[in-house]
Formats: sequence, structure tokens, C-alpha cells
Amino acid sequence: KTVFVLNGPNLNLLGSREPAVYGAQTLADVQSLCEQTSVQNGLNLRFHQSNHEGQLIDWIHEAGRLHGKGELAGLVFNAGAYTHTSVALMDAVKGTGVPMLELHISNVHAREAFRHHSYLSAVARAVVCGLGVPGYALAINAVAQW
Ligand code: DQA
Repeated sequence: KTVFVLNGPNLNLLGSREPAVYGAQTLADVQSLCEQTSVQNGLNLRFHQSNHEGQLIDWIHEAGRLHGKGELAGLVFNAGAYTHTSVALMDAVKGTGVPMLELHISNVHAREAFRHHSYLSAVARAVVCGLGVPGYALAINAVAQW
């Protein structure tokens, strides 16, 4: 089976972006952690990042097609700031029925009030937040059991 890991806007800046909040590791470091963890679980990995909402929606639809064929383990989704704004991403998850784990590197609940609401949590099977980059490995380990 395949695990999709999708990353939204500004996550390409990991490592240089607010390191006090997001840490020093880059998106390439996140990808190699995800590759390692997927291999350990016998899963294929599809890892992507985009700053564009429509591109994220297209990837969710692609994950949905795999889900329809019984070939998707799950979707690990760090939607970045779209988490707090996007009905369209919520609808894409709901409409495809993909089993989704919402992930945030930082603890969004300990930050600004506008980060406390997530459109995705209502359609998520689980939420991981505040564990830093290692959260991605925990998320893939969890999805592997779904
Ligand atoms: C984030 C938290 C969001 O509030 C923020 O907009 C991000 C990253 C996280 O991983 O902690 O871009 O999803």
C-alpha cells in the first residue's frame, strides 16, 4: 500500500522559517525521515509539497483513486495555514473518503487564536500536533496500522 504525505504552503521554507517554532530541519530532512519510516512499515511513499491549494486538492483526489482501489494506507496532511482557512481542502478529504491524519509540527493550540480552529480536524481520523518533525514518523507508523 501507499502512504501519501502532503505538505502545504511555506513548508518548503522549513529549516530557515521561524526555526524557534518549526526547528532546524529542512523539508528534505522530513522527506528522508518519511522515506525511512515508510520502508520500515513496508509502505510506498508519495511525498509532496505545494504552495497552491488546487494542487493539494488534485493530490488528495489522486490519493482518493488509490483509496478506491484499496491501495491507500492513508494520508498524512500538514496543510499549513490552509488548515485554518480552507473549506475546499476539507471537502476534498470528505468527498474522497481518504483516511487522513492531520499533522502540525508546532502546537497550534499554544499559538495565536486564529490557529486554534482547523477545518480539517472534523474530517481527520487523528491529529498529531506539537511533536516537531519526529511527528511525521509517528504519523506514518500510525497510518500503517489503519
Ligand atoms: C503548521 C501550523 C500552521 O498554523 C502554520 O500556518 C503552518 C505550519 C505546523 O506544521 O505547525 O504553516 O501547520
